[in-house]
Amino acid sequence: MHHHSDPHPQPWPVYPPDAIEACSGLLTAGRSYDYSRGAEIAALEDEFAAGHGRAHALAVNSGTSALFLAYQALGVRAGDEVVVPTFTFPATATPLRWLGARPVLVDCGELTGNVTAETIASRITERTRGIAVTHLYGHPCDMPAIVRLARDKGLFLVEDCSHAHGAHDSSRRVGTWGDAAVFSVGARKPVSGGHGGVLLTDRADVFETACLSSASQQRSFASVRDPQRRAVSDTGLGGNLRMSPVAAVLAHAHLRQLDQLIEQKKANCEQLVRELAALPGLSAVIPRPGTDAGGRFGLHMVYDAAEAGLPRAEMIARLRERELRIGSAQTSPLHHTSLGTLPDCRTTSGTSGFPLADQLAGTWISLPADYLHGDATALIRHYVRQFKEVWQR
Ligand SMILES: Cc1ncc(COP(=O)(O)O)c(C=O)c1O
Repeated sequence: MHHHSDPHPQPWPVYPPDAIEACSGLLTAGRSYDYSRGAEIAALEDEFAAGHGRAHALAVNSGTSALFLAYQALGVRAGDEVVVPTFTFPATATPLRWLGARPVLVDCGELTGNVTAETIASRITERTRGIAVTHLYGHPCDMPAIVRLARDKGLFLVEDCSHAHGAHDSSRRVGTWGDAAVFSVGARKPVSGGHGGVLLTDRADVFETACLSSASQQRSFASVRDPQRRAVSDTGLGGNLRMSPVAAVLAHAHLRQLDQLIEQKKANCEQLVRELAALPGLSAVIPRPGTDAGGRFGLHMVYDAAEAGLPRAEMIARLRERELRIGSAQTSPLHHTSLGTLPDCRTTSGTSGFPLADQLAGTWISLPADYLHGDATALIRHYVRQFKEVWQR
């Protein structure tokens, strides 16, 4: 048995005292909800929009809601097809079902797990209305090529940036490319209000339609300008997807310290990966040149069972016996879920239509990114020592 005390710090999300105090102030004032666009919601939206050079930001109650609103406002209708990555969280695809549309899954095209213009193009049909991409675990997709494809084919483009707060390529942040970009700001995301999502767009029609579908009256009167849309501001379009001002305060606190989080997390993640890569059978997931994975929601390494000498599941079990928070890939490809029973998920000869996603999901191990904020020196030392002991057996 191991007699050391638990070396894990409090996992993310961690909030600064002034944010907790501000929440307490809201509750004392009876302001646990907001029908309008109060100061807290406005501050979060304004900073998200400005930080991405976008005309409009809409704060809502989850990333899933923001994706639903994006698809709906971009005109997705029953029977449409939208191309989405198989390697993503289900919510990139599931709001399409609510609209009666069909998610068409796409394989990864690069070793980061991201889709590429080539893998997307192979799934476009005459029913395709749009493309959604996920910047998986913060790695930015090759957006110039994907934007070109979307333009050539006349398709809308949605970026799911839920893993990628503050991520960028050599010229731009993620969230600055798509017709709409969506961030989850819930749960363990690098920017998290506990529950929340943000929709970014430059299109007034998309913003105003999303606003009407997420709120009525005060909020829609405050934001909806187009006369036809403004005429239904009193009732809205039937969704109540507003963000709590408490969540807005918490998410805004994270947003203000995002650069600092990225700096610390980048250094910690790179150190842990560098030291573990010295072991046989463990290697880094290589980012595309010029990119940075921002707040790093999730951290993986490639595991080669033959070189390491044990099947992956057994190695993970041995590491977990030592209370290391190690697992297989954090998200499993959607063709492994019930979404995989959709048509088109198999080749005509019956093999998987997603060979690269299967390869990556079958060889990655996840490292505990949720604990690598702040000073993680002791934690990294502990993990490296434990890994080395397990490898020596
Ligand atoms: C890629 C991706 N998209 C969307 C979501 C959904 O966000 P939420 O949980 O805020 O609804 C998540 C959440 O984990 C996610 O990882």
